[in-house]
Amino acid sequence: MSIRIRFTIVIGVLSLIACVLLAYASYQFSLKNAMEEAKTKGEMVFNMIDSSRMFFKNKQRPIVMEIVDQDRFFPEIMSGFVVARGVWENYQKRFPGYTFKQATIDPLYPPNKADANETQFIKEFDANKDLKNREGTIVKDGKKFYYFARPIAVDKGCLRCHGDVEEAPKDQIEIYGTEHGYDWRAGQIVSTSVVYVPIDDAIAAAKKGATNLFAIGATGIVLIMAVLWFFLSSGVVSPLVKLQEKTKQISLGKELDEVVGIDSKDEIGDLARAIDRLRISTAKLLKRCAGK
Ligand code: HEC
Repeated sequence: MSIRIRFTIVIGVLSLIACVLLAYASYQFSLKNAMEEAKTKGEMVFNMIDSSRMFFKNKQRPIVMEIVDQDRFFPEIMSGFVVARGVWENYQKRFPGYTFKQATIDPLYPPNKADANETQFIKEFDANKDLKNREGTIVKDGKKFYYFARPIAVDKGCLRCHGDVEEAPKDQIEIYGTEHGYDWRAGQIVSTSVVYVPIDDAIAAAKKGATNLFAIGATGIVLIMAVLWFFLSSGVVSPLVKLQEKTKQISLGKELDEVVGIDSKDEIGDLARAIDRLRISTAKLLKRCAGK
């Protein structure tokens, strides 16, 4: 195999490996960044909604409770969970794709019903009270999301509305019925607040970035190989072929008057000068022999 081919293959293969590794590293890096960004966004959304619920619960609700008749119940101004849902419904119009849910095994408000994964989270939270949150990635309806979930614990105060259906506010029964959202027990975990941040676009962007990097790298490799091929041809292989031919002629006692004519300042030039000296010596030797 000629030097030219051997060299080009070795450099080509090594560059290709480097290029693939670089593209893979870029993909992993972008993916990691995308996940971290999704996580930050998820936590921001989650804490924003939670904070508005806490403000309502601690500052607004006590005032409302004083103003409103004891036996009346207006969910929009008396339930933190209704407030959280309402805030979220407005927020989501501006950030479609995101989801926040107060997922519950047996909810008053049917859209809050936990799906199979959420039910699993709730069961885990209920079984392990030290578990403060859960996060990760999940595929829902063919789309990938980052999720962040926190347990919602039931205390005695909750049972006025979520305990015995007989004791629930009549306004609540009128709106939500008597079928679901009751018979919860204090200390139980029957719900989780969970936020979903879509990550499909970020994954696609990471893939695109890596593919672009690979394409640029591969083009670079082809260019490097072309330059290398040209350099090896003109700088190494052609002079070597010429020197080989010249040495052959000298060995046959031919072309002894012709200067080798390669004067590069490198090993090939040195070899050419050595062969040229060989030519001169051979010429002299032959002349001497012919003279005798
Ligand atoms: C004054 C009545 C009342 C009290 C007290 C109350 N809730 Fe609710 N809760 C409701 C109503 C009404 C809804 C329906 C929310 C909606 O329409 O989105 C609700 C909804 C929820 C939801 C969403 C799932 C569902 O059932 O739709 C959770 C979770 C929840 N409450 C937990 C609690 C917890 C925990 C407490 C105690 C810390 C509590 N609630 C106290 C009335 C109450």
